[in-house]
Amino acid sequence: MNQQNKEIVVSGIRATGNLHLGNYFGALKNFVKMQNDYDTMFFVADLHALTTNPDPDMLHANVRNIVAEYLAAGLDPEKATLFVQSDVPEVSEMYLLLNMHVGIGELMRTASFKDKARKQLGIKSESDDIEKEIIGTDSNKRVNAGLLTYPTLMAVDILIQKATKVPVGKDQEQHLELTRRFARRFNSFYGVELFPEPTNFNFGSAPVKVPGLDGSGKMGKSEGNCLYLIDDEKTLRKKVMRAVTDEGPKVPNQPVSPTVENLFTLMQLTSSPEVVQQYRDAYADCSIRYGDLKKQLAEDILKITLPIRERILDLQGDDATISRILRRGAEKARERAAATLNEVRHVMGIRRF
Ligand code: TRP
Repeated sequence: MNQQNKEIVVSGIRATGNLHLGNYFGALKNFVKMQNDYDTMFFVADLHALTTNPDPDMLHANVRNIVAEYLAAGLDPEKATLFVQSDVPEVSEMYLLLNMHVGIGELMRTASFKDKARKQLGIKSESDDIEKEIIGTDSNKRVNAGLLTYPTLMAVDILIQKATKVPVGKDQEQHLELTRRFARRFNSFYGVELFPEPTNFNFGSAPVKVPGLDGSGKMGKSEGNCLYLIDDEKTLRKKVMRAVTDEGPKVPNQPVSPTVENLFTLMQLTSSPEVVQQYRDAYADCSIRYGDLKKQLAEDILKITLPIRERILDLQGDDATISRILRRGAEKARERAAATLNEVRHVMGIRRF
């Protein structure tokens, strides 16, 4: 395996809950393709998860789940480096160092911070006056400093590996923009060219939007409209059969309503082109029966998810394998991280006597 000269790809996954079809088609399938052509590093961001003070046992179980699900979906530890963020202590040290060049103002202006700060303070309104609330006077209400510096930590995850490509969703673009800004600022402050500026990366394909089953749009955990990779056969069939539809076409070649188009979109991701065409034609000539379409859709989704589910269950009970893979991944991630941290320390004047 020759990883030299390949561009470095880094992406982190927050350790929250189970993976659904949106994660699978939106991110995972791409990661699995990338691992052949790039020097890929995928990690579970457990330190980032701490910003919302999760239950400790739950956090630990979630880290194991995510690793099992990623392996089950096709990430290959022989090709990609898989690790847990906290297994690379160099990240925490560089986070402290980089914070010396990050402004609290720019951090307070990030959209994700405002969102989460509002949640931590229990503020409903969109008021831009949250600065006052954050400084506040009520010592029972606080926004933790880790939440504010979330983008610093994310920038360090990327910069410490000198990654140039970072596959992330739209919601992370602002964080990536900050990462580039911090890299530029550091380089120019010290007159070095230590960090490359990373860009978002979709591996040639347009980002896929995976719809939910409730006719409302995107599949998402907080929407409660998800098909999970870990769903058993019965659960998954039931969810698909309950998907929202409409009254059906009344006249030939009628445009498809957004609700039903969602089902076609899912079908396009999971069924063969012939099957999709068959149902499109049936819609066009008004002979379609949504019950049949759903049965077919459930069948084709299960063909993808059931083998993954089997592997997830096997891996979840196999701590020895998980631990072996993570130890190897951490070793590789630490090697690179330590080299970068040494440079950063030296550049900043933290030098040994
Ligand atoms: N913030 C990212 C998310 O919520 C997770 C993440 C942490 C990440 N560190 C990263 C993504 C580094 C890409 C690169 O999805």
